Amino acid sequence: MLMAMYCLALSAACPVNFEFLNYTIITSQCKGPQYPPSSCCASFKEFACPYANLINDLTNECATIMFSYINLNGKYPPGLFSNECKDGKLGLECPAPPPSEPASDKNGRSIDDAEGVLGEFSEENMLPKNAMISGYLSEGHVDKARKMFDNTAANDAASWSALITGYIKNGMHAEALAPFQDTIVSHILPNEAALVSLLFACGQLGA
Ligand SMILES: *[C@@H]1O[C@H](CO)[C@@H](O)[C@H](O)[C@H]1NC(C)=O
Repeated sequence: MLMAMYCLALSAACPVNFEFLNYTIITSQCKGPQYPPSSCCASFKEFACPYANLINDLTNECATIMFSYINLNGKYPPGLFSNECKDGKLGLECPAPPPSEPASDKNGRSIDDAEGVLGEFSEENMLPKNAMISGYLSEGHVDKARKMFDNTAANDAASWSALITGYIKNGMHAEALAPFQDTIVSHILPNEAALVSLLFACGQLGA
Protein backbone atom coordinates (compact mmCIF):
# COMPACT_ATOMS: atom_id res chain seq x y z
CA MET A 1 0.00 0.00 0.00
CA LEU A 2 2.80 2.34 0.93
CA MET A 3 4.39 1.42 -2.38
CA ALA A 4 1.27 2.40 -4.28
CA MET A 5 1.39 5.78 -2.58
CA TYR A 6 5.00 6.33 -3.60
CA CYS A 7 4.18 5.36 -7.16
CA LEU A 8 1.30 7.79 -7.30
CA ALA A 9 3.29 10.58 -5.73
CA LEU A 10 6.11 10.09 -8.18
CA SER A 11 3.96 10.04 -11.25
CA ALA A 12 2.27 13.23 -10.08
CA ALA A 13 5.62 14.90 -9.68
CA CYS A 14 6.28 15.30 -13.41
CA PRO A 15 3.65 16.05 -16.04
CA VAL A 16 5.46 14.06 -18.75
CA ASN A 17 5.19 10.32 -18.50
CA PHE A 18 8.79 9.37 -19.20
CA GLU A 19 8.04 5.73 -18.67
CA PHE A 20 6.42 5.40 -22.06
CA LEU A 21 8.72 7.48 -24.22
CA ASN A 22 10.82 5.97 -26.99
CA TYR A 23 14.46 5.86 -25.91
CA THR A 24 15.72 4.38 -29.18
CA ILE A 25 17.27 7.69 -30.21
CA ILE A 26 19.70 7.38 -27.33
CA THR A 27 20.12 3.63 -27.05
CA SER A 28 20.88 3.22 -30.76
CA GLN A 29 23.61 5.87 -30.71
CA CYS A 30 25.11 5.77 -27.26
CA LYS A 31 26.69 2.40 -26.64
CA GLY A 32 29.24 0.95 -24.25
CA PRO A 33 31.89 0.23 -23.40
CA GLN A 34 33.11 3.56 -24.76
CA TYR A 35 29.94 5.62 -24.54
CA PRO A 36 31.49 8.24 -26.86
CA PRO A 37 30.52 11.66 -25.46
CA SER A 38 29.86 13.10 -28.91
CA SER A 39 27.15 10.64 -29.93
CA CYS A 40 25.89 10.10 -26.39
CA CYS A 41 25.39 13.80 -25.74
CA ALA A 42 24.02 14.53 -29.20
CA SER A 43 21.42 11.79 -28.88
CA PHE A 44 20.70 12.75 -25.30
CA LYS A 45 19.94 16.29 -26.37
CA GLU A 46 17.86 15.15 -29.28
CA PHE A 47 15.78 13.21 -26.83
CA ALA A 48 15.71 15.66 -23.95
CA CYS A 49 15.54 19.06 -25.61
CA PRO A 50 11.82 18.94 -26.34
CA TYR A 51 11.40 18.77 -22.57
CA ALA A 52 14.13 21.26 -21.71
CA ASN A 53 11.85 23.65 -19.86
CA LEU A 54 10.51 20.90 -17.65
CA ILE A 55 13.90 19.32 -17.11
CA ASN A 56 15.56 22.55 -16.11
CA ASP A 57 12.75 23.38 -13.73
CA LEU A 58 14.11 22.38 -10.36
CA THR A 59 10.70 22.41 -8.76
CA ASN A 60 9.63 19.15 -10.35
CA GLU A 61 11.01 15.62 -10.54
CA CYS A 62 11.21 15.47 -14.33
CA ALA A 63 15.00 15.49 -14.60
CA THR A 64 15.42 12.77 -12.02
CA ILE A 65 12.74 10.61 -13.54
CA MET A 66 14.02 11.14 -17.08
CA PHE A 67 17.59 10.19 -16.15
CA SER A 68 16.27 7.16 -14.35
CA TYR A 69 14.45 5.89 -17.41
CA ILE A 70 17.31 6.67 -19.76
CA ASN A 71 19.67 4.67 -17.57
CA LEU A 72 17.16 1.89 -17.24
CA ASN A 73 16.52 1.65 -20.97
CA GLY A 74 20.16 1.82 -22.00
CA LYS A 75 21.58 0.05 -18.91
CA TYR A 76 23.89 3.03 -18.65
CA PRO A 77 26.25 3.56 -15.74
CA PRO A 78 24.82 6.06 -13.26
CA GLY A 79 25.84 9.61 -13.94
CA LEU A 80 26.97 8.94 -17.52
CA PHE A 81 25.05 11.76 -19.11
CA SER A 82 25.46 14.19 -16.26
CA ASN A 83 29.22 13.66 -16.35
CA GLU A 84 29.70 13.61 -20.10
CA CYS A 85 27.17 16.16 -21.20
CA LYS A 86 27.46 18.89 -18.64
CA ASP A 87 27.61 22.09 -20.57
CA GLY A 88 27.76 25.70 -19.71
CA LYS A 89 25.83 27.43 -17.03
CA LEU A 90 22.55 25.79 -17.79
CA GLY A 91 21.84 22.23 -16.86
CA LEU A 92 20.64 21.39 -20.32
CA GLU A 93 21.49 23.72 -23.16
CA CYS A 94 19.46 23.21 -26.24
CA PRO A 95 20.46 24.48 -29.67
CA ALA A 96 17.43 26.48 -30.70
CA PRO A 97 15.30 27.91 -27.94
CA PRO A 98 12.10 29.40 -29.32
CA PRO A 99 12.75 33.09 -30.07
CA SER A 100 9.78 34.16 -27.99
CA GLU A 101 11.20 32.42 -24.92
CA PRO A 102 11.84 35.02 -22.22
CA ALA A 103 14.87 34.79 -19.93
CA SER A 104 12.55 34.32 -17.00
CA ASP A 105 9.55 32.07 -17.11
CA LYS A 106 6.14 33.25 -16.10
CA ASN A 107 6.74 32.42 -12.48
CA GLY A 108 9.58 34.89 -12.47
CA ARG A 109 12.32 32.36 -11.92
CA SER A 110 15.59 33.33 -13.52
CA ILE A 111 17.28 30.94 -15.89
CA ASP A 112 20.11 30.93 -13.39
CA ASP A 113 17.93 28.79 -11.15
CA ALA A 114 18.49 25.98 -13.57
CA GLU A 115 22.22 26.19 -13.14
CA GLY A 116 23.84 22.90 -12.41
CA VAL A 117 20.75 20.77 -12.67
CA LEU A 118 22.83 18.04 -14.29
CA GLY A 119 25.49 18.54 -11.66
CA GLU A 120 23.03 17.35 -9.06
CA PHE A 121 23.31 13.90 -10.46
CA SER A 122 27.05 13.62 -10.28
CA GLU A 123 28.25 10.48 -8.60
CA GLU A 124 31.16 12.13 -6.87
CA ASN A 125 30.22 10.77 -3.50
CA MET A 126 29.92 7.21 -4.75
CA LEU A 127 32.32 5.30 -2.54
CA PRO A 128 34.16 2.13 -3.50
CA LYS A 129 31.91 0.39 -1.00
CA ASN A 130 28.94 1.19 -3.16
CA ALA A 131 30.72 -0.16 -6.19
CA MET A 132 31.31 -3.37 -4.23
CA ILE A 133 27.66 -3.59 -3.27
CA SER A 134 26.68 -3.14 -6.89
CA GLY A 135 29.31 -5.63 -7.97
CA TYR A 136 28.15 -8.31 -5.55
CA LEU A 137 24.58 -7.82 -6.60
CA SER A 138 25.33 -7.88 -10.29
CA GLU A 139 26.90 -11.31 -9.67
CA GLY A 140 23.84 -12.38 -7.74
CA HIS A 141 25.61 -12.40 -4.35
CA VAL A 142 22.72 -10.77 -2.56
CA ASP A 143 23.77 -11.91 0.92
CA LYS A 144 27.31 -10.57 0.58
CA ALA A 145 26.00 -7.24 -0.63
CA ARG A 146 23.55 -6.97 2.21
CA LYS A 147 26.30 -7.84 4.71
CA MET A 148 28.56 -5.15 3.34
CA PHE A 149 25.72 -2.67 3.56
CA ASP A 150 24.78 -3.69 7.10
CA ASN A 151 28.39 -3.45 8.31
CA THR A 152 28.61 0.19 7.37
CA ALA A 153 27.56 2.60 10.07
CA ALA A 154 26.57 5.50 7.88
CA ASN A 155 25.03 4.54 4.61
CA ASP A 156 24.44 7.39 2.24
CA ALA A 157 21.87 7.71 -0.49
CA ALA A 158 24.30 6.09 -2.93
CA SER A 159 24.70 2.93 -0.89
CA TRP A 160 20.99 2.62 -0.31
CA SER A 161 20.55 3.02 -4.01
CA ALA A 162 23.17 0.42 -4.87
CA LEU A 163 21.34 -2.04 -2.67
CA ILE A 164 17.89 -1.24 -3.99
CA THR A 165 19.01 -1.26 -7.60
CA GLY A 166 20.76 -4.58 -7.09
CA TYR A 167 17.69 -6.20 -5.58
CA ILE A 168 15.67 -5.09 -8.57
CA LYS A 169 18.25 -6.48 -10.98
CA ASN A 170 17.94 -9.79 -9.21
CA GLY A 171 14.19 -9.75 -9.56
CA MET A 172 13.69 -9.20 -5.83
CA HIS A 173 11.15 -6.43 -6.14
CA ALA A 174 9.50 -6.81 -2.79
CA GLU A 175 12.90 -6.91 -1.02
CA ALA A 176 13.85 -3.68 -2.76
CA LEU A 177 10.97 -1.86 -1.18
CA ALA A 178 12.13 -2.30 2.40
CA PRO A 179 15.39 -0.36 2.02
CA PHE A 180 13.56 2.24 0.01
CA GLN A 181 11.09 2.77 2.79
CA ASP A 182 14.01 3.00 5.21
CA THR A 183 15.45 5.86 3.19
CA ILE A 184 12.22 7.73 3.75
CA VAL A 185 12.18 6.98 7.45
CA SER A 186 15.84 8.01 7.80
CA HIS A 187 15.17 11.20 5.89
CA ILE A 188 17.80 10.24 3.36
CA LEU A 189 16.87 11.74 0.05
CA PRO A 190 16.68 8.92 -2.46
CA ASN A 191 18.88 9.66 -5.42
CA GLU A 192 18.57 8.98 -9.12
CA ALA A 193 19.42 5.31 -8.80
CA ALA A 194 16.95 4.74 -5.99
CA LEU A 195 14.24 6.36 -8.02
CA VAL A 196 14.91 4.23 -11.06
CA SER A 197 14.52 1.17 -8.90
CA LEU A 198 11.39 2.48 -7.38
CA LEU A 199 9.83 3.32 -10.70
CA PHE A 200 10.77 -0.05 -12.06
CA ALA A 201 9.38 -1.78 -9.00
CA CYS A 202 6.15 0.18 -9.45
CA GLY A 203 5.78 -1.37 -12.88
CA GLN A 204 6.79 -4.87 -11.83
CA LEU A 205 4.45 -4.99 -8.88
CA GLY A 206 1.59 -3.42 -10.78
CA ALA A 207 1.24 -0.92 -7.97
C1 LIG B 1 11.24 4.21 -31.53
O1 LIG B 1 11.90 5.06 -32.45
C2 LIG B 1 12.63 4.37 -33.46
C3 LIG B 1 13.32 5.40 -34.32
O2 LIG B 1 14.01 6.32 -33.53
C4 LIG B 1 11.70 3.50 -34.30
O3 LIG B 1 12.43 2.78 -35.25
C5 LIG B 1 10.96 2.53 -33.38
O4 LIG B 1 10.03 1.82 -34.12
C6 LIG B 1 10.27 3.29 -32.26
N1 LIG B 1 9.70 2.32 -31.32
C7 LIG B 1 8.46 2.41 -30.87
C8 LIG B 1 8.04 1.36 -29.92
O5 LIG B 1 7.70 3.31 -31.21
